[in-house]
Amino acid sequence: MSKSLQAIRGMNDILPEQTPLWRYFEGTVARLLDNYGYKQIRMPIVEFTELFKRSIGEVTDIVEKEMYTFEDRNGDSLTLRPEGTAACVRAVLEHGITGGGQVQKLWYIGPMFRHERPQKGRYRQFHQIGLEVFNLDGPDIDAELIIMTWRLWGELGIRDAVKLELNSLGTSESRSRYREALVEYLSAHHDKLDEDSQRRLKTNPLRVLDTKNADTQAVLVDAPKMADYLDDESRAHFEGLKARLDAVGIPYVLNPKLVRGLDYYSKTVFEWVTDKLGAQGTVCAGGRYDGLVEQMGGKPTPGVGFAMGIERLVLMLETLEQIPQEISRQVDVYLCAFGEEAELAGLALAERVRDELPNLRLQVNAGAGSFKSQFKKADKSGALYALILGDDEMAQQVVGFKPLRGQGEQQSIAWDALAAHLATCVVQG
Ligand code: HAM
Repeated sequence: MSKSLQAIRGMNDILPEQTPLWRYFEGTVARLLDNYGYKQIRMPIVEFTELFKRSIGEVTDIVEKEMYTFEDRNGDSLTLRPEGTAACVRAVLEHGITGGGQVQKLWYIGPMFRHERPQKGRYRQFHQIGLEVFNLDGPDIDAELIIMTWRLWGELGIRDAVKLELNSLGTSESRSRYREALVEYLSAHHDKLDEDSQRRLKTNPLRVLDTKNADTQAVLVDAPKMADYLDDESRAHFEGLKARLDAVGIPYVLNPKLVRGLDYYSKTVFEWVTDKLGAQGTVCAGGRYDGLVEQMGGKPTPGVGFAMGIERLVLMLETLEQIPQEISRQVDVYLCAFGEEAELAGLALAERVRDELPNLRLQVNAGAGSFKSQFKKADKSGALYALILGDDEMAQQVVGFKPLRGQGEQQSIAWDALAAHLATCVVQG
């Protein structure tokens, strides 16, 4: 195929054989979020560029080098959203739904865009399910977010393969005191830092903690520790969170170097990581951002949230072979009809059955075909049963009912009794 007709590198089609697993995953998360009282919000995929610069931070990888930014026909600078938090904050502010301390527990799902180097688990268009909670400032809600994801991993059968890393960045006051101490220490070791860290030291020093460079990591061993700079409020918040996780029995690892790649965080930050996916091991990440709403022009409004990468979690389900059997079957019953008259009767019969069993997955053969070819299609569809309408069945106003996957002989069922019969043998989704 000519190059222009290929998908953009790092932007993937999700093919029909993959969508059942995506829908299973998305459905499981959506049900869980409903059950915990979260409501869905849908934001546009494109926003003014300024929104992301102001919220994510000018000196972050995302804003500096990963955004898909373009000028539209009005000359406005627009950006394909690289994440959901900024747009969600914009939306709640614009519609005033967090005013007067109103609590909002919101979730969203959809594609995000970052111009990163594509590799397994890292794409340029990827999908997140994220959630954001506004106007609750206690550690109880931070704990709820984590407890919910813990439950999700359990439901998906991947709990043993993920690990929770936790840190507190403190309030902005304690973070700036820490930043000062860190800058002072790192400046004294400037020559031993890698080039990128030397640059970050000037622009965004906390991100030096994130370095993969071994020499810089060695320098960091004796660097001031964030935990020592937490003020009483941040410390109490973090202790409150840990106590709740302990109460529920959720294991975690404290990672003082966890700073996250977006600038809006304060206090709690966390990441769920796995070693099953190679280099791109973070499947879900987030934290508290108590200063963000104000920074974006709203009244002081505490916020906390996270987002999970759907591609990475789907990959994990595949890698760990945690794919429920029933999701691969998309057809319960396949109706084969032979001859014009049978085809017409079959169509009408199928609609009558659908009236009575709206959840039945009933596929009617299209494209006619011989007995053999229709049967082959019925079998390939994965259906549990074939319904057969030929000359004999038409004469007797019955339909042949043939189990395709197991024991049992073909039987004849009267048209009027068909729906009731199917209801007894097919467990409907
Ligand atoms: P993030 O850590 O940038 O946070 O992304 C969250 C998750 O999205 C990652 O843990 C990963 O699973 C997935 N992800 C990120 N980039 C890619 C990529 N290029 N390819 C595939 N998956 C990816 C945020 O986006 C924050 N908005 C999360 C948040 C919400 N914090 C508070 N509220």
